[in-house]
Amino acid sequence: MNNLITEIEEAEALYLDLKTRQLKVDLTRGKPDESQLDLSSGLEGILQGQTIVDGVDIRNYGEPRGLDSCRELGAEILGCDKDYVLAGGNSSLNLMSQYISSLFFHGSGDGPWSSKERISFLCPVPGYDRHFRLSEEFGINMIPVELTGEGPDLESVRELVKQDQSIRGIWCVPKHSNPTGEIYSKEITEGLLKISKEAKQNFKIFWDNAYAIHDFKDSIPLEDIFSLAKDIDALDSIVAFASTSKMTYAGSGIGFLALSKFNLDLFLKHYLALIIGPDKVNQAKHVKFFKKNGGVISHMKKHAEILKPKFELVDSWLSKQDYGSWTKPTGGYFVSFTSEEGLAKEIINLASGLGLKLTPAGATFPYGVDPKDNIIRLAPTACNIKELDTAMEIFVCCVALATLRNH
Ligand SMILES: Cc1ncc(COP(=O)(O)O)c(C=O)c1O
Repeated sequence: MNNLITEIEEAEALYLDLKTRQLKVDLTRGKPDESQLDLSSGLEGILQGQTIVDGVDIRNYGEPRGLDSCRELGAEILGCDKDYVLAGGNSSLNLMSQYISSLFFHGSGDGPWSSKERISFLCPVPGYDRHFRLSEEFGINMIPVELTGEGPDLESVRELVKQDQSIRGIWCVPKHSNPTGEIYSKEITEGLLKISKEAKQNFKIFWDNAYAIHDFKDSIPLEDIFSLAKDIDALDSIVAFASTSKMTYAGSGIGFLALSKFNLDLFLKHYLALIIGPDKVNQAKHVKFFKKNGGVISHMKKHAEILKPKFELVDSWLSKQDYGSWTKPTGGYFVSFTSEEGLAKEIINLASGLGLKLTPAGATFPYGVDPKDNIIRLAPTACNIKELDTAMEIFVCCVALATLRNH
């Protein structure tokens, strides 16, 4: 007991000391830092007046599926056949939104979703806050399912899809998942496809491969879900997404959508009402830029050189202390920290008192509710190493203080 009191007093003294430093740091959003953005400065002026690419004038309307060579780029990133790929505007999140809209207008061979009483999605947790926000915006009912470290718990997915036919989709971030960093195993990927095939309702896998080639060290291959799906005649169950947001400019990259011919035709009914053609100038710039720089993988190695030390720094701070558990991602943009139950909000509040902004507690859960209040998403990419060091000093202090007070 005396030891505990001393430890609390020490943690409080450190907290007050940090407070006097009037710090200001932010670990909220998974954004590239300035030096990562600088890696793509070669995009500017790269076309040198070139206006014809793949036989079309890139300045004009047209090519709603995107430039051929850009679709090839998307296929390389997604690890699938080019035939499935559409290259769109600057954001994959926007394509997700447009794809879901298309389902509300046209359905997927099962009538428009707008005519259904209820549409539900399975949401592996913790997950990407914007998937949840988008679902909420569409009035989609969200049902959390646990992640296992290599994808969602298949038994739960199977049971839920069987029991509740309003479940029409599952959000998946199959590689370096946001925020757990996990990579879906082949078994789980095949299991999901099998469930979609067996489902009585139309059930789609929203395969958001946002971190497809964002590895810190060697390239880690992911199964081509389209090939696996083809083997069991389940191609219509998958809709995949990716983008160059974390490869070139986050606000000015290319979003990709990949889907079967059947799904594409239905999607185009909606999409062609919205656009006459994507920004092909930007698409051409990207294709030329990656070619000039030895390809996407070689470019991503430069990002890894900037990112890896940041993730090592986070891990070294967390390893020096005694509380909670955390993920050790091999790529991507996040670390997920698990505190003792009931402490996430408290830790985040304490951190805020010292000038450290963290993603709000619950953000990685549907409706913003983390039932155990123990998950904190750390996004170490946007700040520089010095700021990150300060942020982690604050974080571990707050974790210790909240945990000790809880004992
Ligand atoms: C899993 C996931 N999907 C999509 C996005 C956003 O992608 P985009 O910039 O292409 O809209 C992010 C960004 O953080 C993400 O983490």
